[in-house]
Amino acid sequence: MTADPTELRALAVGIATAAGELALRRRREGVEIAATKSSIVDVVTAADREVEAFIRGRIAEARPGDAFLGEESDASAGSSGLTWVVDPIDGTVNYLYGIPRWAVSVAVVEGEDPATWSALAGCVVNPSLGEVFAASARGGASLDGRPISAGEPPGLGTSLVATGFGYDAAIRTAQAQAASRVIGSVRDLRRAGAAALDLCDVAASRLDAYWERGLAPWDFAAGALIAAEAGAVVSAADVRDGRRLVTASAPAIAAEFAELLLAAGA
Ligand code: IPD
Repeated sequence: MTADPTELRALAVGIATAAGELALRRRREGVEIAATKSSIVDVVTAADREVEAFIRGRIAEARPGDAFLGEESDASAGSSGLTWVVDPIDGTVNYLYGIPRWAVSVAVVEGEDPATWSALAGCVVNPSLGEVFAASARGGASLDGRPISAGEPPGLGTSLVATGFGYDAAIRTAQAQAASRVIGSVRDLRRAGAAALDLCDVAASRLDAYWERGLAPWDFAAGALIAAEAGAVVSAADVRDGRRLVTASAPAIAAEFAELLLAAGA
């Protein structure tokens, strides 16, 4: 079976778009919390589970030999060397509150370790806005089919930067302290609640940089490829106490941004 990134990208776009329609329909019908996970504020809705099952079914139909890693169900092994990494609803809390910033994120990667895997294709859909971000390895990144590229900010001081916080209260407090050491050195900070979209925003020059420690592979697999293919400098290799730091930034500020994060203890 082919591992052609362009074909995988088309498949990812088709599946993520259909999954986005399903999630949006469920959102309009009303959302209820089905369970909590790592903490009382880390929720899963029935839609998260239904949308993941939908995506999983579509992948199994199209590519039965591929492995699967998703946020809401058990991982399964494959025989092809490729793994689909899926967040059915990234930005679950926004979804719950009706804030139109949540996404379906679908990526396919070669290899298993997020630090070393090679992403072949990815798609992030924001169904509320009808926006579709996509990329394939060495094929560039697009928004609604048009090429996108990371920005060219003149310096860090005028750069718009985003971050995110985890669900554990103590970790979130430490993350906010690190953010307080960053905010004085940049234009401003955003915390918009969906990591996949934050990464896509760096790809589309809507943000100059983004960082977050503690992301799970499904939060960033597709968005990181989209940002990298748009020319952003992306890193997901730094892991401390089991918590991975994911960064994406416009190339012109990448070195300065990395130094600032280090000094801030991010
Ligand atoms: C969360 C969002 C959020 C980020 C959290 C993630 P979820 O994903 O991406 O922006 O700050 O760290 O866990 O739980 O909505 O899929």
